[in-house]
Amino acid sequence: MIRIALSKGRIFKETLPLLAAADIVPVDDPETSRKLILDTNHDDVKLVIIRATDVPTYVQFGAADVGVAGKDVLMEHGGEGLYEPVDLKIARCKLMTAGLADAKAINGRKRIATKFVNVAKRFFESRGEQVEVIKLYGSMELGPIVGLADLIVDVVDTGNTLKANGLVPIDHIADISSRLIVNKAAMKMKHQRIQSLIDQVSKAVA
Ligand code: ATP
Ligand code: PRP
Repeated sequence: MIRIALSKGRIFKETLPLLAAADIVPVDDPETSRKLILDTNHDDVKLVIIRATDVPTYVQFGAADVGVAGKDVLMEHGGEGLYEPVDLKIARCKLMTAGLADAKAINGRKRIATKFVNVAKRFFESRGEQVEVIKLYGSMELGPIVGLADLIVDVVDTGNTLKANGLVPIDHIADISSRLIVNKAAMKMKHQRIQSLIDQVSKAVA
């Protein structure tokens, strides 16, 4: 049995063709089904549908053997217990800091609103800046507008969300794409099955 952890939406849609290249085709559509475990064309391959942020956790603890997660989520999680063998080159964006376009100079300790608390702390630490990080779960762009924070750390693609909220990108933290991740123990115990999945998916990416 192989369990593959995926999140709904962008990652599911963009992973489907890569799984199809490895002859894995889901029977249900997660956008319409209420099921959290989807059957596939193979009795011994199941897809578990979870929140994007939870994918590394499921794979770390072996609740799923394999998963697909954004590099942003992996940087925040830390990657313990995981291998990251394939860059799937999907869901590409950038992790950036951003702030109000008409911001006044910030005096003293900056406040940073983000769901990427660890990434934000590390980034500002690496620049020798002491900051206060405020954990949010979404809509980070609102933070600077309502005075909750001076800056945000979030993913940016087209920049439309920032622009629509009067924000500008400031510092580039990392280029982001989604990665195939594998539980370290499963990689040993189910080596043949997982290695063949890695090979087929890598070929499809290339
Ligand atoms: P959660 O449901 O746990 O809050 P989420 O809403 O961030 O997660 P998605 O929006 O599906 O989940 O994003 C999944 C991944 O896709 C992110 O981790 C990131 O790597 C990438 N991503 C996010 N936003 C964009 C975007 N606008 N363009 C391209 N890729 C993106
Ligand atoms: C993400 C992210 C930003 C936005 C950036 O949100 O949290 O708010 O995308 O993308 P942009 O630079 O192209 O505006 P979400 O997952 O809601 O993105 P979506 O609007 O593509 O669904």
